[in-house]
Amino acid sequence: MDDFYKEYILDHYRNPRNFGRLESPDVTAQDNNPLCGDEIRIDLALNDGVVSDVRFTGKGCAISQASASMLTESIKGKRLEDVAKLPPQAVLDNVGIGISPTRMRCAMLGLKVLKSAALGEIAGWPDEE
Ligand code: FES
Repeated sequence: MDDFYKEYILDHYRNPRNFGRLESPDVTAQDNNPLCGDEIRIDLALNDGVVSDVRFTGKGCAISQASASMLTESIKGKRLEDVAKLPPQAVLDNVGIGISPTRMRCAMLGLKVLKSAALGEIAGWPDEE
């Protein structure tokens, strides 16, 4: 593993960004990796369909927690519809290293939770006329 990216991942793991809970989130989702039990919870605050604030909590391996931390940094100011469509490649671009197939679930846990939060919220929106 490239040393810079290893350090980058460890930095996010040790100093997670946007860690904690929002007092009154508009959307919350939580899930775990069934293989290991590692967890992520994500709270979103929305303003007119745009992510105005985000927090996450969780416990687990460095890749799962670091990739969730990186995700929270990349979604503030984005429309919820766009968050719901984020591809796995967005996580891989954030992490910046090749992820082995066995660690792919770790890397994607935060995205899975984030997308379930976004999709659940969008599903509750009234259809536009
Ligand atoms: Fe559990 Fe990575 S080992 S999410």
